[in-house]
Amino acid sequence: MARILTGIQSSGVPHLGNILGAILPAIELSKKNESFLFIADLHALTTIKDKTTLRNNTLATAAAWLAFGLDTKKNVLYRQSDIMQVTELMWYLNCITPYPMLANAHSFKDKANKLSDVNAGLFTYPVLMAADIILYNANIVPVGKDQLQHLEITRDIASRFNFLFGETFIIPKAKTDDESMIIPGTDGKKMSKSYDNCINILGPEKILKKQIMNIVTDSRSLDEPKDPTMCNVFQIYKLIASESDVTKLEHRYKNGGLGYGHAKKELFELILEIFKKPRKKFKLLIENPNEIERELFEGSKKASKVADSVMGKVKAKLGLN
Ligand code: ADP
Ligand code: TRP
Repeated sequence: MARILTGIQSSGVPHLGNILGAILPAIELSKKNESFLFIADLHALTTIKDKTTLRNNTLATAAAWLAFGLDTKKNVLYRQSDIMQVTELMWYLNCITPYPMLANAHSFKDKANKLSDVNAGLFTYPVLMAADIILYNANIVPVGKDQLQHLEITRDIASRFNFLFGETFIIPKAKTDDESMIIPGTDGKKMSKSYDNCINILGPEKILKKQIMNIVTDSRSLDEPKDPTMCNVFQIYKLIASESDVTKLEHRYKNGGLGYGHAKKELFELILEIFKKPRKKFKLLIENPNEIERELFEGSKKASKVADSVMGKVKAKLGLN
């Protein structure tokens, strides 16, 4: 059975885009294949420098996986920093990673242009990611298209290690969904924490309502017929509603008499209804962080078994034991 592994940075509370684009597809895969799913808090340290924020984000990210029903009996949910061998392995990998390969990574160049704090962690980010993957003998790594270059770097580093020290690591494959949806945010651009256009379907009702009411629309009046394909509210509604509800709303747009305010209200109510169970479970977990910690502790025990065995091999190959 192929081992699936993927990580999500603990850079905020997972929003509708993260949930539909990453968490739900990974949970679907985890039903058929053993999955290692982790919260990349060490990667988040490249940008977050506040302990409360980091901890809250980590708990919220773990709670989102659990709230959407990840089966932790069968799969492994853990916090990256709980298995410190990953940073040890990263050092070994650093020593065989060519500098230009990292200097040319798009994601690093992008961040170096945008951020004021260009730290060495941002530079070696892909090496930690390689360690994340090969430490657990992962075969398949589901990622967004923006992460494909990091997966290529991982494959290069793992192959180089195998070439220099003898067969040790499995060479993983990336899995991207061709028809994977880019979920639009409240302004129609890709929903992202960095654009302040998120819909936090797991958050408090009041904030959720405000985010939905802030979805950008044109200024057509209530009576005018409207083109649903041009409307951000409809685009989001379409992603979660049943086919028959989508068709019904489509007609109401085209016939006129439906104001954008009404459409937003229907979207809000639909979100509350569809995500009722995960919202309830998420709230319960956030109010009981010990329960989340217990899950992460159980996960770390399983993850560390694999990490110990792989690191034993690695150190022997390097002449460090
Ligand atoms: P953000 O852009 O909000 O910081 P991340 O880059 O941390 O999100 O993404 C975490 C995961 O969620 C990735 O697998 C990414 O591909 C997925 N994801 C993020 N935003 C979207 C979106 N708008 N549509 C689909 N998937 C998304
Ligand atoms: N870099 C990934 C992202 O920002 C998160 C991540 C860290 C990851 N380590 C990983 C994803 C290992 C897959 C495998 O989305």
